[in-house]
Amino acid sequence: MTTASEGLAGVIAGRSAIATIGHEGAGLTYRGYGIHDLAGGAAFEEVAYLLLYNRLPNSAQLDAYVTRLKGMRRLPDKLKTALELLPGSAHPMDVMRTGVSLLGALEPEGENGRTGSGIADRLIASLGGMLLYWYRFHQRGERIDTETDDDSVAQHFLHLLTGRRPDPVKQKALDMSLILYAEHEFNASTFTARIVASTLADFYSAIAAAIGALRGPLHGGANEAAMELIARFDSPGEAEKAVRQMLAARRLIMGFGHRVYKTGDPRSDFVKEASKRLGEQTGDTTLFDVSERIEQVMRNEKGLFPNLDFYSASVYHYCGVPTSMFTPIFVIARTAGWAAHVIEQRNDNRLIRPLAEYTGPEEKDWEPLECRS
Ligand code: ACO
Repeated sequence: MTTASEGLAGVIAGRSAIATIGHEGAGLTYRGYGIHDLAGGAAFEEVAYLLLYNRLPNSAQLDAYVTRLKGMRRLPDKLKTALELLPGSAHPMDVMRTGVSLLGALEPEGENGRTGSGIADRLIASLGGMLLYWYRFHQRGERIDTETDDDSVAQHFLHLLTGRRPDPVKQKALDMSLILYAEHEFNASTFTARIVASTLADFYSAIAAAIGALRGPLHGGANEAAMELIARFDSPGEAEKAVRQMLAARRLIMGFGHRVYKTGDPRSDFVKEASKRLGEQTGDTTLFDVSERIEQVMRNEKGLFPNLDFYSASVYHYCGVPTSMFTPIFVIARTAGWAAHVIEQRNDNRLIRPLAEYTGPEEKDWEPLECRS
């Protein structure tokens, strides 16, 4: 290839047996299982196990895995001290990135038999606790115990957030959203993790780098940006007028479009349905109604469809999650996918090092300083 593909669009940058996305006849699958079946019937822990250990767990294996994750929620004292030292005004994504990095220093890979999948389990089990320990300390001056007997990652997260056992409908919605966010082939953050893994760096470095890539609003940060947009409007009519103006000004509407999907995101209907249900449950469907109107305008005006991030925003809001924690939830879920990719990359590694199409000047003569004007 002599010319570059902008943003690597359309480039097959490696092989993977983890997920298919947008494949005709298959759609989105994790390890061969369709997203409709997984989002409709599985639990997030089952999906994490599938991604990390390359098979669906049977009932005993799933019980053992859930127990294993429960046993990995403890935060080292030094990590808690560091979380207390971080500013309360930090963005939660800074907390996630820092938390992973610190854990990498306190519990390094290779020591005490720590392997990639073990570190992935530890992170899936403890990332929510890190975030919410920091949050409750800075917001309410509390030092919470992150070692709860909650049965799932979703329940643990909502429990630590509010201090109360969550409503089952909200817990189910969060659990389903974790499944939908768990894996998505060579997206920007996963590819970042694979690049870092390809240098033979440690597991934590790959995950910390992926968190950095996820943060931007063109990727995971879109769910926070979508929330900021929909929260501005009191009615669908107001939203329609403003979005039309934004489009006329050639502004991006976050939560719409996708690099790979061209006609629709197969994950979106699940979160849309959950958003509707949760809005009805809370007795105020304004956010859902506003979101639906923006969806209509985007389809009619731009032929664009909502991606997973758009309706996830109202789902998380209805679940009582602060907006700045939307992308961190994506981190918790996607850690399963990132980890599966790091393991896959390591199993058949070659340094990822592409070429650039040079667009700089022709070769020039260097002159000593005193000769330069
Ligand atoms: N709002 C308005 N216009 C859009 C949007 C949008 N959300 N998305 C694409 N377009 C327009 C572009 O402006 C461009 O128009 P033009 O041809 O007139 O210049 C055209 O559609 C093609 O868009 P590209 O940016 O070339 O598409 P690309 O494949 O590079 O980008 C991306 C995909 C980044 C997701 C883009 O659609 C976007 O910026 N969306 C908003 C951010 C977002 O929602 N990100 C989340 C992605 S999914 C996830 O991480 C779970």
